Amino acid sequence: RRLAVLISGGGSNLSALMDACDDPEYGCEVVLVVADRDGCGGIETARSAGIPTAIIKVGDFADRSDWDRALADALAAPTPDLVVSAGFLKMLGPAVLRTFPGRIINTHNSLLPSFPGIHGPADALAHGVKVAGATLFLVDEGMDTGQILAQCVVDVLEEDTEETLLERIKIAERAQLVRTVGAMMRDGWRVEGRRAFLNRP
Ligand code: GRF
Repeated sequence: RRLAVLISGGGSNLSALMDACDDPEYGCEVVLVVADRDGCGGIETARSAGIPTAIIKVGDFADRSDWDRALADALAAPTPDLVVSAGFLKMLGPAVLRTFPGRIINTHNSLLPSFPGIHGPADALAHGVKVAGATLFLVDEGMDTGQILAQCVVDVLEEDTEETLLERIKIAERAQLVRTVGAMMRDGWRVEGRRAFLNRP
């Protein structure tokens, strides 16, 4: 199965997926990595592994809808089975969503619907919650609103800072991403209204 991955940062989730793909039993390959900005570590990681990459920046286009269409075309070219948004910091537009209906997932570092947006771990600390975690969900037109496929939980410790909590979340998040993408590609998934389910093996 073919995966396209969207990143904006270091790409540790991408690296975890690439490592999983090294095992033929996992049955997946990363066929394209796209970033929306320069300087993403994940682009270098992909390049050195010989994976095709593209940098598609909003600023290089007349407007956001041209960017959206260019992103949709770039993603469609290698015919991925699944688009994985892994630390991609832009909202996807209608052209991308229409090109891959129900086939785009995003990983987010909070237990949604709590703490959407880009400050998940800081918001968790600010609210004094005792557990935090990561959510893998199907992307829709909202911000962090799509049907949830998987969640994993970590404890929030009294001595946590944003950094230590984020690191603990990211360890669980990467494992969840690898596990869930594998299950989706092997056994499929289904959506029933607001709920999504991984098919049983
Ligand atoms: C992840 O924690 C994700 O939830 C958040 O950004 C982080 C991406 O990390 N949106 P990386 O670039 O995969 O290391």
